[in-house]
Amino acid sequence: MRTIAHISDLHFGKVDPAVAEGLITDLAAHEPDLLVVSGDFTQRARARQYQDAAAFLRRLPGPQLVVPGNHDIPMYDWAFIPRFVAPLRNYRRFITRDLRPVYQDDELFVLGINSARSFTQKSGWISEEQLLDVKLHVCPLPPSVFKVVVTHHPFIPPPREPGADVIIGAEAYLDEMEACGVDMLLAGHLHLAYHDDLRSHFKAAKRSILSVQAGTATSTRRRGEPNAYNWITVSPDLCTVAVRAWCNGRFEESLVTRYRRVNGVWEREAQVPVDEVGEKVTGLPAGTRRRS
Ligand SMILES: [Fe+2]
Ligand SMILES: [Fe+2]
Repeated sequence: MRTIAHISDLHFGKVDPAVAEGLITDLAAHEPDLLVVSGDFTQRARARQYQDAAAFLRRLPGPQLVVPGNHDIPMYDWAFIPRFVAPLRNYRRFITRDLRPVYQDDELFVLGINSARSFTQKSGWISEEQLLDVKLHVCPLPPSVFKVVVTHHPFIPPPREPGADVIIGAEAYLDEMEACGVDMLLAGHLHLAYHDDLRSHFKAAKRSILSVQAGTATSTRRRGEPNAYNWITVSPDLCTVAVRAWCNGRFEESLVTRYRRVNGVWEREAQVPVDEVGEKVTGLPAGTRRRS
């Protein structure tokens, strides 16, 4: 079993300081095998916002795997130069130079893909070259390794917004994801926490893949939900997604969903009663699980 702390959409420049400190406190109590940040570190990609985001990241546990979001590319300006010539200059300067991040141990493999693009303000997509990365890195892995791909833009829309801004051309990427045995997709962007089998949206998809989105962890740009992040446990046939939401001045577990893979299909079990969520399932220290 492996544990992933999945945070997204920090939006430095529009951060609630109390929530940001609360996230540091909450994560300090846990030791995830991997911390994933699925983009939108800043509000406007300004150097000062990146500096604050980088300082924040240094206070979070590692190892960390991060990808940029659409807000991490400068907006159009008087010369159009930053957006089109060096769109991720500040990201590479302050966050990481690695735009093709990989994490691997003997049970878990995670590939980060930059889906943010200069030619669109909000939307994003995956390039042919990036799909080749999936083939090269993910396809050779044995079934015993749990395979995760991280993008900023989600593959599936939230249940309440079927027309929401999801990754462009998702159908074109499914062949690689299926053929290479991807088990889970992580994303953010919409500032809503939701997850489901990819096939809930793509009826023709051949492989059951879990698509998991995190809400905004620290920003004031909430969309009717509290700030939240996902505490995810993965194993070959059992996954748990625990949403930890900001409530009463702290992050608390608000919803836990367990998926069991039966005959190759991820089946969503009823929301797990908190009392039944043992430490072996969530990986969280005792006393951190509360029903809200
Ligand atoms: Fe965002
Ligand atoms: Fe975004």
